[in-house]
Amino acid sequence: MNTQLLNPDKDEKAYEKAAEYILQGQVVGMPTETVYGLAANALNGEAVKKIFIAKGRPQDNPLIVHIADIKQMDKLVSYIPENAKKLANAFWPGPLTIILPKSECIPIEVSAGLDTVGIRFPSHKVAQKLIETAGVPLAAPSANLSGRPSTTTAQHVIEDLNGKIPAVLEGGACTVGVESTVISLAGNKPRLLRPGGISLEQLRDIIGEVEVDRAIKEKIGDDVRVSAPGMKYRHYAPKAPVTVVCGDADKTANYIKQNAKSNAGVLCFKEYIDIFNGYKCFEMGSKNDVSSQAKRIFDALRAFDETDVNEIWSQCPSDEGLGLAVANRLKKAAGFHVINLG
Ligand code: TXA
Ligand code: MG
Repeated sequence: MNTQLLNPDKDEKAYEKAAEYILQGQVVGMPTETVYGLAANALNGEAVKKIFIAKGRPQDNPLIVHIADIKQMDKLVSYIPENAKKLANAFWPGPLTIILPKSECIPIEVSAGLDTVGIRFPSHKVAQKLIETAGVPLAAPSANLSGRPSTTTAQHVIEDLNGKIPAVLEGGACTVGVESTVISLAGNKPRLLRPGGISLEQLRDIIGEVEVDRAIKEKIGDDVRVSAPGMKYRHYAPKAPVTVVCGDADKTANYIKQNAKSNAGVLCFKEYIDIFNGYKCFEMGSKNDVSSQAKRIFDALRAFDETDVNEIWSQCPSDEGLGLAVANRLKKAAGFHVINLG
């Protein structure tokens, strides 16, 4: 079986076909504004199991449930705190996932045994239309093989999952490029579990203090229980080992230039591409344009796998705004092998 590419611009039945797969208990690739997702009916545990099989995903890692109308959330969670309403009003539809106490209709395959569930209302029209056509909420992790960089085009999804799923809906390149922000409102205090398309500063503007989970900035030992199970796995990783160099952009470029071996790959800001002449080099946008960096980062990390580099060096944005998410993905790709130049 080859995976079918369903393009709503060319095939007026694309949504119906994709929705039919979903309602038959199959798994379908779906574009969102952040990254592509691997979607199944969130209320059907047997269908959700197929997501884990297609990705090779560890079973203790829960899935986000996608909705296309705020009212759909009522049945999925047991309680909606005031802060959830405020965040939903401010940022939905959009790249924010809110973790809340789950209701009984969430199968154990989705929650991976936790008593919570993550809910997200994506802004991508193709995702919304698929959810509406299927008429059920969709559980979906990022549509990559487990451990690989997330997918931001339908082509990436085919690269990773061809033959493992019946279809992918075409929705163009993702406009955000890094995954949704994950915030838990299920504990005593709001807690950021994963930085993403909505910045920490934006969250704090709406609900005040938000704690930041340790796993965002440092490596967590295998024996430690983390709040978002996904944060403990090696992730986003190209085949060659990655070293991330943080600090002033001129300094980090010089440091990489001095230390990179001749067959190294380099991921740099656009301003520095010339100084890495002779290296396998990909640029992630201008040093001050973090939204371009977010859009390009996964594509660049994937591109190194088409080369024969045996080490990769990367510059890194600061932790401000969307930079926190880009820096987190780079550091995770590096297994937190990070050099700080101050
Ligand atoms: O942008 C996104 O969020 C994309 C698109 C497809 O919506 N989805 C995505 O899903 O990135 P995934 O499964 O690749 O990452 C979800 C993260 C994981 O780290 C997971 O552990 C965490 O969210 N998560 C999901 N449900 C959770 C829960 N109930 N409690 C704590 N963490 C949860
Ligand atoms: Mg993922």
